Formats: sequence, structure tokens, C-alpha cells
Amino acid sequence: MSGTHIVIGATGGIGGQLARRLHAGGARLHLIGRDAGRLGALADELEASQTTADVLDEAALEAAIAACPGDIAGLAYCVGSIDLCPLQRLAAETMLASYRLNVVGAALAVRAAAPRMVEGAGVVLFSSVAAQQGFLQHAPIAAAKAAVEGLARSLAADLAPKVRVNVVAPSLTRTPLAARFTSSEAMQKAIAQLHALPRLGEADDAAALAAFLLGSDAGWITGQVLAVDGGRSTVRSRG
Ligand SMILES: NC(=O)c1ccc[n+]([C@@H]2O[C@H](COP(=O)([O-])OP(=O)(O)OC[C@H]3O[C@@H](n4cnc5c(N)ncnc54)[C@H](OP(=O)(O)O)[C@@H]3O)[C@@H](O)[C@H]2O)c1
Repeated sequence: MSGTHIVIGATGGIGGQLARRLHAGGARLHLIGRDAGRLGALADELEASQTTADVLDEAALEAAIAACPGDIAGLAYCVGSIDLCPLQRLAAETMLASYRLNVVGAALAVRAAAPRMVEGAGVVLFSSVAAQQGFLQHAPIAAAKAAVEGLARSLAADLAPKVRVNVVAPSLTRTPLAARFTSSEAMQKAIAQLHALPRLGEADDAAALAAFLLGSDAGWITGQVLAVDGGRSTVRSRG
């Protein structure tokens, strides 16, 4: 397919791995992130164009997508958070911050890219295992990621049949975002045991599915949420 793939959050664990996979498959890339140094180094490595932008700045996000050269073959919004909060301390601002970063940023990115997307292009957004299963203290991120799933289904309708929109929903995955949950070996082991396939996710687990969903082998898949979670959302193998 002709055109460029945009990876937003390319300096992150999953975004970086996805960019590397797409590059290895021969894709042309436009990378977006907020850390100019790390973004520039990755863009050099992958012979990609790049724009530094904070996705919370609507004008900067639009300009970063406008800077993508040529037609757009795919877009992955790999920005996100894991915002936890005990119910008694839950503030409107905490809920809104999660929503703004995970949902509004994704919606505005797709809006900006859609007019230049080619026939058969793909969009991938990121949810979480916490959208479908209730976990303690997950209110801000569970609500935001459930909204991402609804957003994706709605965008899939808006953009059909030209562009497909799908969602990857990982369980805890070893990236900088999850570092505070994976700092000790004991924590890693305890969390791994909660999965029917008892390990933590690796960035490439989610990146592999995202790359598939962006590609033509997924040409008849749209409006779907696919879990990469070692069975955490659906399988209880002990007890
Ligand atoms: N890792 C997990 O356990 C896990 C579990 C479930 C869902 N997810 C979801 O998977 C997706 C990818 O996560 P990840 O684990 O790869 O996270 P990550 O390593 O923290 O990467 C996130 C990326 O987004 C960028 N970013 C964050 N805020 C931004 C902003 N305001 N403007 C521009 N860029 C911004 C980060 O930039 P910097 O590098 O500058 O911070 C980084 O490039 C996210 O949607 C996340 O919610 C992850």
C-alpha cells in the first residue's frame, strides 16, 4: 500500500516497537512524540520524518499530522496512561486528564489524518484489559479506555469502507509506562501469576498485533477490540 504510516507516541515502549516492525516491513514512517532528542534519534535510525508535539496541544497535534509527507497509509495512537486513584481521592481533574490524553487526543489525531488516508488504510488505538474487567482503583483509566473502545467503533463507522479502525487492549506490559508496577521481581512474579499464560507482556506482543491490524492481512477487520493479555480478560486457569 502506498503512503506513510504515522506513529504517535513513537518514543514509547509499544510505539517504538511498532515503528521498528513497520520499518522492517518496508513502511515509510512519520513519527510523533514529545521528546525531541529521543524522537530525533529514532527517526534517524528508521529513516523516518518526525515532528515533536504534545498531543494535549490541539494545534501542535494537528500541525504534526499535517507535517506527514504525502498520503497516509496508517495511524497508530500509542500515547496513553495508567492512571489509578482510590475512590475517596478521585477528583474531576484526574478523570478528565485520563480522558483528554487517551480519548480526545486519539479522536483529534484521527480527525486530522482522515482526509489524507488512502483506500484500505488502518487506524489502531490502544485500550487496556482494565476496560472490560473491574480492577481496584482503576476508575480514571478504566473509564477512559472504555471510551477509547466506543470511540473506535464509532470512527470505524464514520470511516468505512475506506479506512479500518481497531483497538489493541494489552494487559500489563513491560514498558516505561508500567515501570512502577514492575520494579521488583516479587511484583513481576505476582502479576505474572494472574495470567493464564503466566508472564508480563512485552512491548512486541502488542506491537505485533498493531502491525497486523494496520496491514492488508487485516483487510476485513474493523471496529474490533483485540486483547493481548495472556488470557487475563477471559481465562481463569487456577482456582
Ligand atoms: N504498558 C502497559 O502495561 C499498558 C497496559 C495497557 C494499555 N497500555 C496502553 O498502550 C499504549 C502504549 O503504552 P506504552 O506502555 O508503550 O507507554 P509508554 O512507553 O509510556 O509510551 C507512551 C508514549 O506516549 C508519549 N506521550 C505521553 N504523553 C504524551 C503527550 N502529552 N504528548 C505526546 N506524547 C506523549 C510518551 O512520550 P515520552 O516518551 O516523552 O513519555 C511515549 O512516547 C498506551 O495507550 C497505554 O495506555 C499499556
